[in-house]
Amino acid sequence: MIDSGRLTRRTAELSRIAGQGTAVTRLGLSSDEQSARDLVGAWLGARGAAVRRDAAANLFARFQGNGPAILVGSHLDSVPEGGRFDGALGVLCAVEAVEALLDAGTRLRHPIEVVAWADEEGARFGVGLFGSAAAFGRLPSGVSERRDRDGVTIADALRALGEAGDPGRARRDPKDLGAYLELHIEQGPRLESAGVALAVVSGIVGIYHARVTIRGRADHAGATVMTARADALAAAAEVVLAVERIARARPDSVGTVGEIAVRPGAKNVVPGECVFSLDLRAARDHDGLVDEVLAAVARVVSARGVDASIDELARVPATSLDPKIRAVLKRATSSVGVDAPELVSGAGHDAQNPALSGVPTGMIFVRSTGGSHTPREFASPDDAALGAQALANALRELAT
Ligand code: HGY
Ligand code: MN
Ligand code: MN
Repeated sequence: MIDSGRLTRRTAELSRIAGQGTAVTRLGLSSDEQSARDLVGAWLGARGAAVRRDAAANLFARFQGNGPAILVGSHLDSVPEGGRFDGALGVLCAVEAVEALLDAGTRLRHPIEVVAWADEEGARFGVGLFGSAAAFGRLPSGVSERRDRDGVTIADALRALGEAGDPGRARRDPKDLGAYLELHIEQGPRLESAGVALAVVSGIVGIYHARVTIRGRADHAGATVMTARADALAAAAEVVLAVERIARARPDSVGTVGEIAVRPGAKNVVPGECVFSLDLRAARDHDGLVDEVLAAVARVVSARGVDASIDELARVPATSLDPKIRAVLKRATSSVGVDAPELVSGAGHDAQNPALSGVPTGMIFVRSTGGSHTPREFASPDDAALGAQALANALRELAT
């Protein structure tokens, strides 16, 4: 049986690392994220795990057994002013599930490894699913030289943590793994409106991340007539609305421009340059969504006489999760009295990288309220305990 008091106490303790009230700003590859890894590593080391950190700063804690390991975990980093549960709850429940098995004297036939993936959000350097992509050899090229707003590269940040600076060295053989399980808050309203505590994830949407730079011509806001302008921000604004229109018109698609910056950025200067982000997701025909948006960018750019360059940050295909693992999770959620529906995840997850590398992968969703990527994000101790117990039951079926 899991110890829900221990889980609740540890959730509060972890939330205090780079936390402010119910908000958490624990950016990937930061010292705050390392403090969180140290805390989790101490809990697991105290139970006899072999704890290590890899070249991409992922934390692994391995409990002995023979043959391919069952890997279970999630991420500890957050978006700026994010919530206490996104990622963190998956690591906390993985720790609690393993400790419950150890408390019950369970004999592991396969090793269990708890993982805390580094920099899942990509909030600082722009590259999401960073740690799990490094572990499965799926990092975009040139990723180590990507810089944050202060000009610090990923290689610098890894070196500041005491690593060599080459995340590619984190690659491990997927055949070392028998399965990967991840528990995560749903981050959307479906379980809340269905009045159900848990779901089994059937698949994860495809995700495209990029930065678009539009170059126009800076000019005097007063002396430049409207017909003589190459206004980079006006062009970007037209693209932002095109993203919204295109995503709205396509089934199960979403499109978001979450970051935008203008240069020189003065009220009396026609914007010469505008850099903005693209986040495009779809469960089906993801490539079609991306192609349609990129065609819209090209159309706006030529109509307005400006230039554009696209810096692709990540492109992860829509990922269906392993039917056998889904069946294990269905049994595990039923065993805690929940008739769990199957849901497609609109959020991206580290689980996409093991799944796309051939590791049998599954996810459990825990009901969350208040949205996500905001301090309003919430998961109740009861739902968290149900999730941890279901995860423990699934681990017991897979590892013994
Ligand atoms: O953006 C996402 O879907 C995830 O929270 N990184
Ligand atoms: Mn997130
Ligand atoms: Mn997450």
